[in-house]
Amino acid sequence: MSKISSIEECIEKKPQEKYLADYQPSDFLVECLDLEFDLFDENTRVKAISVMKRVAGGESSLFLFGEQLKLIALLVNGETFEHYKLVEGGIELFHLPTHFTLEIETEINPLENRAFEGLYKSGEAFCTQCEAEGFRRITYYLDRPDILTKFSTKISADKTLYPSLLSNGNRVESGDLAHGRHFVKWVDPFPKPAYLFALVAGIFDCLTDSFTTKSGRRVALELFVDKGNLDKTAHAMLSLKKSMKWDEDRFNLEYDLDIYMIVAVDFFNMGAMENKGLNVFNSKFVLANAQSATDQDYLSIEAVIGHEYFHNWTGNRITCRDWFQLSLKEGLTVFRDQEFSSDMGSRTVNRIANVKIMRNHQFAEDAGPMSHPIRPASVMEMNNFYTVTVYDKGSEVIRMLHTLLGEQKFQQGMALYVERHDGQAVTCDDFVAAMTDASGIDLTLFKRWYSQSGTPQVNVTDHFDVQTNSYQITFKQKNLPTADQQKKQPLHIPVDIELLDKVGKAVDLGHGKMSKVLSLTQKEQTFVFKNISEKPVPCLFRGFSAPVKYQYAYSNENLLHLINFSSDEFSRWDAGQTLFNKYLVKNVQLIQAGKAFSLPTLFVDAFRATLTSEQLDPALIADMFEFISESGAMELFDSVDIEALHKAREYILNQLAEQLQTEFVTIYHRSQLNAEYQPKTADIALRKLANCALLFIAKSDKKLANTLVLKQIHFANNMTDHLGALQAANSGKLNCRNTVMSDFDEKWFENGLVMDKWFALQASLSNDLVLENIKKLFDHRSFDYNNPNRLRALVGSFVNNNSYYFHASDGSGYQFLTDQLIKLNSQNPQVAARLITPLIQFKRLDAPRIALIKVQLNRLLKIENLSLDLFEKVSKALAQ
Ligand code: TRP
Ligand code: ZN
Repeated sequence: MSKISSIEECIEKKPQEKYLADYQPSDFLVECLDLEFDLFDENTRVKAISVMKRVAGGESSLFLFGEQLKLIALLVNGETFEHYKLVEGGIELFHLPTHFTLEIETEINPLENRAFEGLYKSGEAFCTQCEAEGFRRITYYLDRPDILTKFSTKISADKTLYPSLLSNGNRVESGDLAHGRHFVKWVDPFPKPAYLFALVAGIFDCLTDSFTTKSGRRVALELFVDKGNLDKTAHAMLSLKKSMKWDEDRFNLEYDLDIYMIVAVDFFNMGAMENKGLNVFNSKFVLANAQSATDQDYLSIEAVIGHEYFHNWTGNRITCRDWFQLSLKEGLTVFRDQEFSSDMGSRTVNRIANVKIMRNHQFAEDAGPMSHPIRPASVMEMNNFYTVTVYDKGSEVIRMLHTLLGEQKFQQGMALYVERHDGQAVTCDDFVAAMTDASGIDLTLFKRWYSQSGTPQVNVTDHFDVQTNSYQITFKQKNLPTADQQKKQPLHIPVDIELLDKVGKAVDLGHGKMSKVLSLTQKEQTFVFKNISEKPVPCLFRGFSAPVKYQYAYSNENLLHLINFSSDEFSRWDAGQTLFNKYLVKNVQLIQAGKAFSLPTLFVDAFRATLTSEQLDPALIADMFEFISESGAMELFDSVDIEALHKAREYILNQLAEQLQTEFVTIYHRSQLNAEYQPKTADIALRKLANCALLFIAKSDKKLANTLVLKQIHFANNMTDHLGALQAANSGKLNCRNTVMSDFDEKWFENGLVMDKWFALQASLSNDLVLENIKKLFDHRSFDYNNPNRLRALVGSFVNNNSYYFHASDGSGYQFLTDQLIKLNSQNPQVAARLITPLIQFKRLDAPRIALIKVQLNRLLKIENLSLDLFEKVSKALAQ
């Protein structure tokens, strides 16, 4: 590849896309699979014995996927078999009988595996990650999700180093072997695809508990963590039991095996993995105690534990036919975990958090070079499609179904889906068919959400007729072309609406209904409301009823009216966001026109009223003051002026800080809790508001903030308070900043997960020296370049949360990121391909910056052995 001159030539040399439309069922099935692992750091032996059957294709050969494997032996029906050819990406077998036993022995090197896909070592433990296509790094196999079979797994390893030998299903046998080794055998009674296989071997501390299902079966719960971490496991276990109960109560779904295991590992590419009966978790989403974990950590742990648990039905019992259907399990399971969190805590606060992900990340993805529908039509590297689109927009699509059907019919649809497809590998169409059949609602149009990418833009206008007392409201949806798709069709968009009268009361929309879900299905559509006595203020897309950008010519007074009176708390927050965005855009324009900043009195007054409200949930008040991120705000412009955006945003935040200074100080003091730490909703809300106030005080009164920060750290009995103070010191660049940062380092340097918070703060510092500092931190005693959590904390926080410096006009940020990607490319392409995001979403930037980015992307394209993961993204970005 080194001599390649043009992009076209380079792109040509790479494998092409795979298409959804090309799906073919397999000619062969696997009737059962027996695995035997003999674990050694550098030469693990894997024996895979499967019974296979031809079901189609006459004389066709059998292709088994395999990567980075050393073939040791190959037998068919017990005899050495020679009719095979090793090819790129696998092995091809010829002249096979219709029914046969296939025995394959391979050798692999877990120690050398830094991609954390297949079998690898996380610290001292062996562990696997098979989704999406990692099983083929363990043995040659029909590694596709529609091949389901019953697995048995025998694991042998050194008894002292690896006392725990775990796999899916039930433990059926164990014993000692020669040379200080031992073995355990597991049998999983449920047929499953290879991506749900898991194996873990190591020396752990284990928290055990149990859960009795509603039909009275007792399930053993086991949570494995590194030795010494037992004091950080209670919350994860509690979260698991809550998840199991909630899935019974709300979805009528019960756990099916006699044992449920969770293992926490330090080296993991993603959040967690739902392997049948044996979840593997990034330790970040398990370990928590008051000293080391923030409230946000506690909440994320509950959500991720829930997510993986809920996969047992939506993903494992019913899985995907092919990887294009990923959202079938992920969108649905995200919806389920969001509902779980909402039922456990505050629904509004959860909704706001979900919507922030959409606006700060998904909209940008949908407008960028990797734009794809929630069910992609083509894919180069599957690992690149575990995206905010498939997950979070996927969940929004399920949520729209829920809105259109209502809870009862939605649950009937779920029940029908489970009844029809338990034990099968199915498609998104099958899911929608179950929803249609159970509800009697026609979802033909709605299904376009599965195949159409891009964020719809909905423009809303209205007219009030004094003569007829009628109010008409017109919606126009615009679906612009995206990188992957030129032609667009109108979508079925549910618009949850209420109309507020002059005094802020919701108007009766007929039959006592105070709000209504309108179905917008055409390009342009008008709805008329009769018996309306005055021109109302429309509250649109209540609860973010559709993943769209919408626009209505709200006056400031209208927005203030919504902030104060909407019956939907989410919409009150949203009106505040709209007001902020309006003046963000306006002030950017003012700078560009060489004029002074300005903000109307009403702006600050609107926020003052919220801040001092005694009725509102303190968590919601804090959320009112968390605005769109700098990178998310890029979506508000066709062409973005990085400097002006940064200055305008800072200006508005400083105005709020200065003009509401007294209020923030009062709120800060009023929100102090003097009790033992508890991660419960009401306390979390107060800590959130206090820390929010402190951040603003750190902008307006540095001296006071300095005192408060030191005091808060001194008295902190939990990480939320400690980190909140550090954050204020860091972002306000307070005098105590360096001291409190190095004290923290001294205290926590041995705990990588805690240090991630510190690395993230270092990386998000708003200072000209930030990048130099980050480069030095690669040598910090707590840093480990091989650990994805550390990398995301330091590099990820910089490129995603420090937009202004990442987009420095000299291109230093782009060059820095590219340097890291080149280093990471060969060892961990998955993590590299996730970090690249802000470098490929460049179309709204100015020409000089785009040119600087293209230089770096071309540099990447030319490196030797560029991974398919990076190649897909870089080539799509450059093709724009
Ligand atoms: N299925 C996992 C989840 O969403 C995602 C996941 C975990 C994953 N590890 C992975 C996806 C590695 C791709 C590669 O819960
Ligand atoms: Zn998932």
